[in-house]
Amino acid sequence: MKTVSTVPDLRSAVASYREKGQRVAFVPTMGALHAGHLALVEQARRAAGKVVVSIFVNPKQFGPGEDFERYPRDLAADAEKLREAGADLLFAPAVDVMYPPGFSTTVHVAGVSEGMEGARRPGHFDGVATVVARLLGLVLPDVAVFGQKDAQQCAVVMRLVADLGLPVEVLVAPTVRESDGLAMSSRNAYLSPEERKAAPALFRALLATQLVHELGERKAEKLLAAFRLAIGTELRLELDSADLVDAATMRPVEKVDRPVLLAAAVRAGRTRLIDNVVFGG
Ligand code: PAF
Repeated sequence: MKTVSTVPDLRSAVASYREKGQRVAFVPTMGALHAGHLALVEQARRAAGKVVVSIFVNPKQFGPGEDFERYPRDLAADAEKLREAGADLLFAPAVDVMYPPGFSTTVHVAGVSEGMEGARRPGHFDGVATVVARLLGLVLPDVAVFGQKDAQQCAVVMRLVADLGLPVEVLVAPTVRESDGLAMSSRNAYLSPEERKAAPALFRALLATQLVHELGERKAEKLLAAFRLAIGTELRLELDSADLVDAATMRPVEKVDRPVLLAAAVRAGRTRLIDNVVFGG
């Protein structure tokens, strides 16, 4: 696996794949790679002959007081994991490569980016959309792979790609979980042993709510109440948000009469964990 950090080196490596007639799949990441990321690489390998992965902790998607400074960074360990996973090219740019002096563009995807996480983390999805648009423009992949754990991010990227007519297929890979159900996340590294023990209660509460739906409940208000009740049994987690939305538009629903996303965030100490399930329709 080759590592590059400049745009000309990235472009020339991708051009050499194209000259050989290879399709290119792209997995954007912020590093601190875990099995969830490696599953995205695996999906990318199935989709194309060459796999490009980026590692860039994007300052534009962190709000004031969020964890940009302490976000885990270990490029050497990440590169080794990617090599073992069969990635072909790692693009690890510095901030001034991604945002050179004079960079003035912000991409705002109205609608899907504005509720839920977008409302609670102002500017977050503008930062995501801006960096993803730039990365797609630099790599020019045939396929880009994102993880379902960040469901609203996936919806934002799909809207961005459709609206701008970008010639890339967006694939969404299922969430990879620890054996106790906790969704894999780079932020799990922040959890103390006690918080780590409590954390799987988030997925359990999502599944319990899905079960309430399976047993016949269709009203959003009742399902959200069931979720709050279930998460309330784990006193070490503090509920931050819970939303039941149309799985495509990310708009709140009153009843489950189509595929819906139940997405929630909890705080375990200083760490904010998110997860979701899709059901209905
Ligand atoms: O999901 C992430 O890791 C990031 O939001 C992404 C897509 C790499 C953009 O910085």
